[in-house]
Amino acid sequence: MMYFRREHLIVENYMRRRTFKIDLNAMMLLSYFSTWRTASEASQSLSGYTRESIFHSIRNLRDNGLLITKDSEEAKLENKFGHEWLWPTASRYYHFSTKIDDPHNSADEINQYYKKYLKGRKQPPIYKSYHKQPKINLSKESRPEAPFFRTLRRRHSTRELSGNAISFNDLSRLAFFTWGRISSYKTREFGELLHKTSPSAGARHPIETYGIINNVEGIEPGIYHYSVRDHSLELLKAGDFRERCEVLTAGHSWTRNASALFIMTAVIARTAWKYRVPRVYRAFLLDAGHLSQSFLLVATALGLGAFCIGILRDNLIEKELNLDGVSETVLFAVGVGQPLRSPHGPNESILHDHAQPPLNQG
Ligand SMILES: Cc1cc2nc3c(=O)[nH]c(=O)nc-3n(C[C@H](O)[C@H](O)[C@H](O)COP(=O)(O)O)c2cc1C
Repeated sequence: MMYFRREHLIVENYMRRRTFKIDLNAMMLLSYFSTWRTASEASQSLSGYTRESIFHSIRNLRDNGLLITKDSEEAKLENKFGHEWLWPTASRYYHFSTKIDDPHNSADEINQYYKKYLKGRKQPPIYKSYHKQPKINLSKESRPEAPFFRTLRRRHSTRELSGNAISFNDLSRLAFFTWGRISSYKTREFGELLHKTSPSAGARHPIETYGIINNVEGIEPGIYHYSVRDHSLELLKAGDFRERCEVLTAGHSWTRNASALFIMTAVIARTAWKYRVPRVYRAFLLDAGHLSQSFLLVATALGLGAFCIGILRDNLIEKELNLDGVSETVLFAVGVGQPLRSPHGPNESILHDHAQPPLNQG
């Protein structure tokens, strides 16, 4: 990606997340290498430069990832990228340039950041109102509240978790009602399509889910893939990954006390097969959002604590899951555990508790 910033020409390798200022000579060399060419060809074709200076510049551009070597691993990945991310630059650039490599900042660094950037800046209003327009007040219903509405009301992020186990059945229900196949149906144009509790653009359901099981009754700790086909967990790596959870989530320390942490990825080809417009990139994010909310609501209904996390070390997770980050790429994570304390009183689970206060007493 190239653009001007003030008087400089900036070039970004967004796959490697590296940005450089470049001059016209480098620009010319990059342009010369828009097809596969050798360094010797360049030194012969580009007059007015010494062979040494051209070789030096080429090496420099290569070492910084702005030129790639034919048949290298990086070239293969680029090739794959071109074949699978079938949309114009916008979504590719956004996705890859916003991946995270670095460990999380410390609490101190985060506070410094807020101090610096928010100081003296008033928060934008959190409500919008059309004061001068006529308005209709909506009813605050007083009939008994159905369990679903109580679940909605109770959903909140729970980060204080005991680390204790959740049951096999709760884990099964969470997986089924979030990512499971409720039914499937055949279509003439698009083959078999899935119906899940969350919608998905074109019913493509590009999201795959990997569960890091830390403490679930009857399940050996480890990393699993959730198989939608047969509602099962497929073991990828056995072991204790509690500390790894904290690392993979860029320092979210409570994830080590989660009974299970689920990483959601997107399988690019599933969606690209049908859609070629860059706007469809939004669908990956929206799908992950819907699934996340379903997960949080099911966990709430089961009386469990749950959370979602967007700040993840994408590249590290992809390495851990043996994904190339191009065909399948990390998007979002949700987790569940036993809350350290229940804000709703002990053992008060929506599924089991049908005492229903009026809606307007919350
Ligand atoms: C897209 C998205 C990304 C989020 N990323 C993080 C995150 O990286 N770390 C975190 O602690 N919470 C994260 N959250 C949770 C929010 O901080 C939380 O929902 C918010 O503070 C409101 O609290 P509530 O969920 O209890 O209503 C994320 C939520 C969303 C929707």
